[in-house]
Amino acid sequence: MGNDDLTTIILAAGKGTRMKSDLVKVLHPLLGVPMVGYPIDLSLNGINSGKTIVVVGYQGEKIRAHFPDNRLIFVDQGDPLGTGHAVLCTEDHLKGFKGTVLILCADVPLLKRDTVGKFIDAHKSNGSTITVMTAILEYPAGYGRIVRMDGGLVGRIVEERDVSPPEMAIKEVNAGIYCIDSPFLFEALGRVRTDNAQGEYYLTDIAAIANEQGERVYGFAVEDPTEVMGINTRVDLAKADEILRNELLTQMMLDGVTIVDPKTTYIDKTVRVGRDTVIYPNCYLQGETTIGERCVLEPNSQITDSKISSDVVIRASSVIAESTINEGASIGPFARLRPGTVVKRNARIGNFVEVKKSIIGEGSKANHLTYLGDTTVGRDVNVGAGTITCNYDGKKKHPTVIEDDVFVGSNVELVAPVTVKKGSTIGAGSTITKDIPEGALAISRSKQKTIRGWKHRKARKK
Ligand code: UD1
Ligand code: CA
Repeated sequence: MGNDDLTTIILAAGKGTRMKSDLVKVLHPLLGVPMVGYPIDLSLNGINSGKTIVVVGYQGEKIRAHFPDNRLIFVDQGDPLGTGHAVLCTEDHLKGFKGTVLILCADVPLLKRDTVGKFIDAHKSNGSTITVMTAILEYPAGYGRIVRMDGGLVGRIVEERDVSPPEMAIKEVNAGIYCIDSPFLFEALGRVRTDNAQGEYYLTDIAAIANEQGERVYGFAVEDPTEVMGINTRVDLAKADEILRNELLTQMMLDGVTIVDPKTTYIDKTVRVGRDTVIYPNCYLQGETTIGERCVLEPNSQITDSKISSDVVIRASSVIAESTINEGASIGPFARLRPGTVVKRNARIGNFVEVKKSIIGEGSKANHLTYLGDTTVGRDVNVGAGTITCNYDGKKKHPTVIEDDVFVGSNVELVAPVTVKKGSTIGAGSTITKDIPEGALAISRSKQKTIRGWKHRKARKK
């Protein structure tokens, strides 16, 4: 159950023109999670807000599709006419609400739960109608400025484009995060006009409106200004990503993971890594990936949406997607596991081996230069170098089954559909088109012909 006195509104309807992107700004990822996912998580799981309303507009459907959580209320702003207009669009959902409205911006993703908690507490105890989060910046360019009055309360918030020369020097900026008493908020928004440089309805205008009506506006300065950094360009995006990545990797190291070089290790927020796992440089762990304990990830590996159990070794430069690897298995170097691959306990996939939608049984090995697709391999099978499952006939994919204890010699083609029964052996260089019974030897290469003294005979002819 959420806190019924608190409703959070997340502003996410802007296009994000300064990103120069076909993708709406708030879906650009930070550590693999869309930017707007950060304030959403903060509201739903961090501060336990009674209601969470997300205002969307540009590519709104795309944003909704990313966040199927039924605790979220999405409101469509239509044309984004400014931050004030965005908040006004939520009015229907706040009829009769007498509590506090917390406004978060989807493009301010570094904000911490503790900071917002303190901010809400400050609003509850400072007797003001509006509390605005601020930051003191050495370089305040790009942000709205906080104009304080004698006595320290906030008089107005001025957008940079509307700022007067003396106000330009103000170093205290508006973070775009507010606590506002609900009845006042919507009444004040009704008075906001568009007579400004951008011709927009500015939410920030309600600070001056509050003062006109004798209401107090409190400025709450954050201790760490990086938390309220707004993402407007891809330069900001890269900076924010670096900050978040550093935090995440630091926490992982404190939790017992060895990260040899944090500067060149890339791990999404959604990834879990177990204790005593060692991660070498240039590894990229993405999406819904979990890595067990005591694993070794050698340099340059990319692992996406995969489940890796404990004591697994991923050798250098392997690419693994949507796969499951069980205890004690070893992959690579230079292996590629494509979606639907399961490598069972202690199995080994070696260099230049590609596996797609296949199960590799316990203790089995495919150590060199092989393609296994749509294949089920049993236990303790040896797949020789250069083995290829011919799973595709130009139209359809067909399965290959290799049962327990089979020995596949080098350079074998298995033309699917085909089944190789338990304990059988396939001679090197064979093209297998028919099922092989249990314990049999199958060999399909042409007989070797040897001509003695051939070199001399050739020389004599000349
Ligand atoms: C805004 C503030 C500025 C503050 C800065 C902090 C206003 C007028 N200005 O400026 O004082 O210093 O944030 O980062 O509020 N949005 C909508 N609908 C709209 C317009 C914007 O939902 O019609 C959303 C955007 O998607 C974004 C957020 O509101 O998530 C802020 O919009 P943006 O255009 O980035 O405002 P800034 O110019 O950064
Ligand atoms: Ca912004």
